[in-house]
Amino acid sequence: MEWIERAPAKINLTLDVLYKREDGYHELEMIMSSIDLADHLTFTPIEENRIEVYTNKAFLPVDKRNHVHQAIRLVKEQFQIDSGMLVEIDKQIPVAAGLGGGSTDAAATLRALNGIWDLNLNREELIDLGMQIGTDVPYSMVGGTAFVSGRGENVRPIKPMPACWVVLAKPKISVSTKTIFKALEVAQLENYEPQSRIVEAAIEAEDYEEMVRHLSNALEVVTFQRHPYLKNIKERMIRYGMDGVTMSGSGPTILGFSRNYSRAKRVYNSLRGFCEEVYIARTIK
Ligand code: C5P
Repeated sequence: MEWIERAPAKINLTLDVLYKREDGYHELEMIMSSIDLADHLTFTPIEENRIEVYTNKAFLPVDKRNHVHQAIRLVKEQFQIDSGMLVEIDKQIPVAAGLGGGSTDAAATLRALNGIWDLNLNREELIDLGMQIGTDVPYSMVGGTAFVSGRGENVRPIKPMPACWVVLAKPKISVSTKTIFKALEVAQLENYEPQSRIVEAAIEAEDYEEMVRHLSNALEVVTFQRHPYLKNIKERMIRYGMDGVTMSGSGPTILGFSRNYSRAKRVYNSLRGFCEEVYIARTIK
């Protein structure tokens, strides 16, 4: 028996850091949405007590460092399952890009195991398991457009964001989320105005213009300081006529939004000379 799951990438329309918490994490408010750039995972249960993960990207670890591996191990331990699982990941989402690739794969794995091993877990139970793997996994369990808060565990679906094209530019830079959060000084937040509630209201009002005016990411300043080239990509996208431009997650992917396909395609073509990986995607519900 084979079980196939589609695992879409996420983008951040906003990422507000409210404050640093006692537990060392940051209290966040974010608007996230799914796009049609996706990994595909094929699961095959096996009798032997083994976890085997294969991918089409040779540089990706397939051992305990892989989120899919972690999700299977967690479920096997919690439910005392002594058979195994073989997983093939067809990876299309850029890695370490701020697009939640590892988290969406982990969420797809929890969905698949819930079905294959008849665990009968409801959404809250799946979210709890997901949170043990990473703070972006709970959102990925739900997908669509959502208001996400806390460390990432509170996921409240909202109206789908207005349909548009998203150009994604991911230069050859690897960013560690942990390092970026660590480098964020509370002082840098003093002049930062949280935008998530404004963007939520714009989405509820189906007001695309207002939404793109308030795209925002509190981590941009930190990631741009370390990689000034990203600022150049952002400015280029604005100059080329994108309606709004922001960074996704802790970066380095820069997102440009447009309702006009030919403009988005033109920007996509222009950026390909400057940036290693460039994609054009649609928002999905
Ligand atoms: O959960 P995940 O492994 O994606 O988080 C990576 C790191 O980002 C955490 O170890 C933590 O340092 C930081 N983080 C944070 N506040 C959050 C989420 C993540 O400080 N709300």
